[in-house]
Amino acid sequence: MIELENGVKYVGLSDRRITLFENVYPIARGMSYNAYVICDKKTALLDAVDSVLADRFVDEVKEALNGRKLDYIVIHHTEPDHLSSLGRIAEIYPDSVIVGNVKTFAEMEKFFPNISNERKIVADGDCLNLGTHNLKFIFAPMVHWPEVMVSIDLSDGTFYSADAFGTFGALGGNIYADEFDFFAEIDEARRYYSNIVGKYGAMVNNLLKKVSAYEIKRICPLHGAIHRETTIARFIDYYAKWANLEPETEGIVIAYGSIYGHTAAACEYLAQELAKRYKNVKVYDVSAVHSSFIISEIFKYGKLVIASPTYNANIFPPVLALVEDISALAIKNRRVAVIENGTWLPSAASKIKSILANNKDFEIVETITLLKGDGKKELAALAAKF
Ligand code: FEO
Repeated sequence: MIELENGVKYVGLSDRRITLFENVYPIARGMSYNAYVICDKKTALLDAVDSVLADRFVDEVKEALNGRKLDYIVIHHTEPDHLSSLGRIAEIYPDSVIVGNVKTFAEMEKFFPNISNERKIVADGDCLNLGTHNLKFIFAPMVHWPEVMVSIDLSDGTFYSADAFGTFGALGGNIYADEFDFFAEIDEARRYYSNIVGKYGAMVNNLLKKVSAYEIKRICPLHGAIHRETTIARFIDYYAKWANLEPETEGIVIAYGSIYGHTAAACEYLAQELAKRYKNVKVYDVSAVHSSFIISEIFKYGKLVIASPTYNANIFPPVLALVEDISALAIKNRRVAVIENGTWLPSAASKIKSILANNKDFEIVETITLLKGDGKKELAALAAKF
């Protein structure tokens, strides 16, 4: 438990044993699940943690309450990485009132049909007054589930932002972003945003617009560091770029699959040609690098080359997974070149372009088929055309 200010206490925990967040995304540095206790005239627990940490979480909450009863449990988001320890908390504090919206309780009942605590249903814009602290709820559907709501403490400008402004990675004792070099680790924040929330940029924009009406002095997300005055504006700038799919800086991502090394060789040559003209030419073998890292890079840079051998008359499976991810996340506003390879029936390019046909403002700059020879002439021409 870490004391913040004015009776607000951090009761989140980090899991350093987890290796895959959502059993999909590699997280070499673990994951934090943030939760907060407010001790005022009334007491409130804001959110919970993953159930693997439930025992320690109960201890943290008890320590924060320091013998007081728990009046409210506020649920901003029902996804199990936060909610799955709710059953334990509700069992220990059966007299606490659970605060959520209509959709919160619809989701909660699926996971915990037997929780019988009293409920307080809030509407968009409602407040929960705890004494001095006064939480105003703002609905944030699809950031990142339909029931998500955030809250702003009108007494001190704290923005409890749910998954928004979260990051991958466990926290050390420094829980404020200004206590370590947060922006040196921005890649992990972007990887979290792009893969977890990236599909819902329009909803993130709506949320940013709504909260811009308030003077935000602290952002308390459900994952990762807490932000104060010196880091808030810069992090919001990143978020605005990501939500609008605006590249952060000049650069080109080359994502290739290669079975016997020929497509790899072509892409290495292309990278050398591109590097004569552009900074930040980033080359990834999709068989070696998890797609979540490549997706993050595609959010960062404005240009993309996808190269694939033909495999079973289709796209090479690791490339197919990446292309489907790009489609599913509705990434837009990118210049793209497609390279296909294949000795007897190259057909990956048309399938790649077909999958990406609905990505808005995806400009296919060039399509190259590598059939015989080293393709250097075509690749050099592509580099010039990009
Ligand atoms: Fe951290 Fe959408 O849950």
